[in-house]
Formats: sequence, structure tokens, C-alpha cells
Amino acid sequence: MRIDHPGLCGVPASGLHVAVIMDGNGRWASNRGWPRLVGHRKGAERVRELVAACPDLGIRYLTLYAFSTENWKRSTEEVMGLMSLFARYIKREAARMNHEGVRMRVIGDRTRLDAKLIGLIDWIERETAGNDRVHLTVAMNYGGRNEIARATGAIARDVAAGKIRAEEISDALVSRYLDTAVLPDPDLVVRTSGETRVSNFLLWQAAYAEYVFTPVLWPDFTPQTMQTILDAFAARERRFGGVVA
Ligand code: IPE
Ligand code: IPE
Ligand code: MG
Repeated sequence: MRIDHPGLCGVPASGLHVAVIMDGNGRWASNRGWPRLVGHRKGAERVRELVAACPDLGIRYLTLYAFSTENWKRSTEEVMGLMSLFARYIKREAARMNHEGVRMRVIGDRTRLDAKLIGLIDWIERETAGNDRVHLTVAMNYGGRNEIARATGAIARDVAAGKIRAEEISDALVSRYLDTAVLPDPDLVVRTSGETRVSNFLLWQAAYAEYVFTPVLWPDFTPQTMQTILDAFAARERRFGGVVA
């Protein structure tokens, strides 16, 4: 059987989509006897570097897990610190993103976010909407189950309103109701810090993604670390349920 899917090394025509579960900021800081937020700040610097390196790495779509629907369980200090770091990143990086051709999107449940932050997210999405070189998607108050539940609610409402028929619900239709509707599925999901779990990230979209788990803590993760991972990824054979001739 022929596999009707782009290249064995898995680089689709639309460009490589790499998603990252950026983990280990807290441990990186604790190892040095510093507050966890110092690790998050260092992590944000790594994000800036990686985004800038995407064209050289051949990454067209970069999706980063910044805050999960479960992360509210952390101390108020840490949650607030992460929220303000995120806001600061948007404000500080806006000009650079436009200069580098980065289009930024935010996925996740916005209803629980602060009104000012929602305004800032709307602003940066508009501000960078004309860019097409790198598509940066940040998952903020994101959970795969929450996303699927919200999509299911929207589908149910559209069925009730007569906009779609229940018989039309397919894999493709569900995908169009997710926060990631305009994005291709991720080809590769990387998790740092040695944890080997998915923690509610892109549950639907990663159905056929390759996974790489690296012990490197996120604040130590450089474009070179990503290059090494991409080299290993390129050697993998993606079958998508078929058989390789
Ligand atoms: C990842 O680092 C960042 C977020 C989850 C926001 P952690 O804060 O989870 O760091 P560890 O896992 O405690 O080391
Ligand atoms: C996953 O990391 C969420 C983000 C990276 C934003 P966590 O540190 O929250 O995940 P668990 O608790 O180890 O599963
Ligand atoms: Mg963690």
C-alpha cells in the first residue's frame, strides 16, 4: 500500500509543525536555590531565542504550552507571575515578531483570563495577523479536554440552530471547531524535563504526532537542542497506519 501522505521524514507541504511542552522551569530554579519565577523568566528568554531560530530550523509552526487548565492549582504568586510574564512577553516582543514575520495566536479557554490580558491577546493577534513566516501559537489556560468540550458545545449549538446536521459531524468537522482550526496537526511534540506524559496537551491534534522526551530542563533548551531533536525526528518512519513499501 502506498502512503498518501507527505514525505517519510514527515515534513508536510504546509511546513513542519513542532509543539513543545515547556517543562522544568521550577526545578531549574530550585536546583539553584532560586524562586520558581526566576526559572519561568529564563524560560521566556528561551522562547524568544527559539522563535527567532525557527526559520533556520525549518519550523513553520511552533506551538508552545505556557499554562494549562490545571496550572491554577499553583500558588497565587506563581499563577500571577506567569500571567504577567506572558503579558510582558507580548508587549516586549510585538515589534520583534513583526520584524521576524511571526504571526502569534493564542489557544485555550480565555473566559478565565483577566480582561486586560484578553485585550492584549486580541491586540497581538491583530497586530501580527499579516505575518506568515513563522506561526507561533501559545497555549494559555489550555487543556485538550477543555478544548474538546468547548468544541462539542459549539457543535451542539450549531446543530440545534440548524446550521449543521448531526450526520455531518466528522473528524474534519470537529477539527474545525477546535481552537487550532486554522493550524495543521503537529508533526512532533517535544516535552522537556524528563517527564513522559502528555498533561492534557493537544489530545485531538497529536493523534499521529511523533513524541520526543528530553531530560533537558526548559531554561536550558537552546535552538541547538531543538536541532538535535529534529535530526532524530527526521530519521523516524511515520506510517500513519499504513505499510511502508
Ligand atoms: C513549566 O515548568 C512551566 C509551566 C508549567 C507553567 P514547571 O513550572 O512545571 O517546572 P517544574 O516541572 O516544576 O520543574
Ligand atoms: C505541563 O506542565 C503544562 C505546561 C508546560 C504549561 P506541568 O508541569 O503543569 O505538568 P505536570 O503537572 O507535570 O503533569
Ligand atoms: Mg512541570
